[in-house]
Amino acid sequence: MKIIMLGAPGAGKGTQAKMIAEKYGVPHISTGDIFRANIKNQTELGMEAKKYMDEGKLVPDELTVKILLDRVAKEDCANGYVLDGFPRTIPQAEVLTEALEKLNDAVDYAIDVDVPDENIVKRMSGRRACVNCGATYHIVHIPPKTENICDKCGSELILRDDDKPETVLNRLKVYHDQTQPLIDYYTQKGILRTVDGTKDMKDVFEDIVKILG
Ligand code: AP5
Ligand code: MG
Repeated sequence: MKIIMLGAPGAGKGTQAKMIAEKYGVPHISTGDIFRANIKNQTELGMEAKKYMDEGKLVPDELTVKILLDRVAKEDCANGYVLDGFPRTIPQAEVLTEALEKLNDAVDYAIDVDVPDENIVKRMSGRRACVNCGATYHIVHIPPKTENICDKCGSELILRDDDKPETVLNRLKVYHDQTQPLIDYYTQKGILRTVDGTKDMKDVFEDIVKILG
């Protein structure tokens, strides 16, 4: 099972991808999480990626593609994976298609979590992420049991650097310019499925499970 999550920043790709990964027993691979882990550990890759991420721009394809291909070549991906935040450009999608074709393989579904721009900025300003384990919350929709403390590991919850309203607006523009064309790309391949991401997260997940079977 190889699944791609598409959708604007804050649409709920990460939230749903984690639930899919748990239910179907496949790894959840988020290029954004990989970059953030590298920033936290102050690696060379992290320092390079941070320059782009803080402005809401995309990290260049050369860097991103290599990281993703290395990750999906790992043993735990043998039975599939959920990609969250990759591909984000047509060239990235083409690299993935070609890499899988060489293995006589292909992506099964690209799921577009559809949320209008108006809802996005509100969601992002309420998101909190755990500094340690990356679990995400929302101060209104999915609050932690204790304010600002992660339910899972007890660490502190923070607002992501790129969730400031001005950066979110830039990320939305980048999404419409560079990522939205993937909707046509996967529609043409016959594997695009759209879910209404404005519903409650449990209902969104039910809709996804109906698609995946
Ligand atoms: P990335 O980390 O992928 O960020 P993003 O795509 O902007 O998406 P988000 O993680 O912000 O949102 P999400 O859709 O996962 O939503 P979530 O589930 O958290 O990328 C960050 C940056 O890294 C990029 O800007 C870029 O610079 C770089 N990058 C990453 N991949 C790259 C690539 N392939 N190429 C180039 N650059 C790349 O939900 C959001 C909030 O809403 C949460 O608080 C959540 O609790 C809440 N929520 C979720 N679902 C619901 C619901 N149904 N109802 C109410 N609230 C909900
Ligand atoms: Mg995410």
